[in-house]
Amino acid sequence: MQVLIFGSNGYLGGYFRKLYPQAITPRVDISNATEVAEALDEYKPDVVINAAGKTGRPNVDWCEDHKEATFKSNTTGPQVLLDECKKRGIYWVHLGSGCIYQGDNGGKGFSEEDPPNFEGSTYSKSKSQADQFLKQYPDDVLVLRLRMPFDGTAEPRNLISKISKYERVLDVRNSITYIPDFMKVAEQLIEKRATGIYNVVNQGPISPYEIMQKYKEIVDPSHEFVRLTLDELGEVAKTGRSNCVLDSSKLEVEGIEMKTTEEAVREALEAMNNEE
Ligand SMILES: NC(=O)c1ccc[n+]([C@@H]2O[C@H](COP(=O)([O-])OP(=O)(O)OC[C@H]3O[C@@H](n4cnc5c(N)ncnc54)[C@H](OP(=O)(O)O)[C@@H]3O)[C@@H](O)[C@H]2O)c1
Repeated sequence: MQVLIFGSNGYLGGYFRKLYPQAITPRVDISNATEVAEALDEYKPDVVINAAGKTGRPNVDWCEDHKEATFKSNTTGPQVLLDECKKRGIYWVHLGSGCIYQGDNGGKGFSEEDPPNFEGSTYSKSKSQADQFLKQYPDDVLVLRLRMPFDGTAEPRNLISKISKYERVLDVRNSITYIPDFMKVAEQLIEKRATGIYNVVNQGPISPYEIMQKYKEIVDPSHEFVRLTLDELGEVAKTGRSNCVLDSSKLEVEGIEMKTTEEAVREALEAMNNEE
């Protein structure tokens, strides 16, 4: 199976490189149809993975000052890939996000069928527009929606590393995605050539504050932080943030189970503890 990865130098792209070590990893601007077409014609992949996108450094506030680049990469890019892969009959995978929702949908969580209800930041808007565009082509692309990805490494993009640097930590429950579990799900769905949208999150929401309480217990008992409420979030973030719970029952119907959030967070923290 010939795999081609766009965005292979990014945080999640690196995981796909490890999953498919033989993959082709061209340096191509995914919003440029000519460059994409040339890469597809030259390498003739069976599977394309789009891990490219503007996520902002140090965080999504960056996207507020780089709107054009954000929409080009996150909205135009997936539209170009849909067109170019469809023309050639190539199966492809897009990394979507749960950040297009706000709230817990009355305790049920948001399913793949629920329309987005959060456009409070340029990043969320750009992801929401791509998600809803790709939703119109349920047979042509697999969209994997992640939410606050984390692992057991010191990588600054890891949710746990990131929030361990914060003095004030938000206490609002969210769905989160343990990347080692996510990669297993991605591998299985790709193997089956599944298409359509899938929420890929661990079972049960948790708040970043609760994660830090466990961090203090398992990794660093001297770690200090204070609780930040939703009302106070505007004091530390320039733009709006999605806080949401996703329903992952569609995955269960496929026979795919993610670990509980409790188990996944503990596994990641123990790995971080061993690394220290
Ligand atoms: N990390 C998260 O919290 C999260 C959560 C849910 C979904 N996702 C989605 O997962 C995908 C990957 O995220 P990530 O965390 O791995 O981000 P990342 O570490 O920022 O990596 C993204 C990579 O894509 C490249 N890129 C940006 N625009 C491009 C373009 N037009 N053409 C080709 N490459 C381009 C970036 O290169 P430059 O640095 O040179 O721009 C970077 O190497 C994104 O679509 C993101 O929205 C991420």
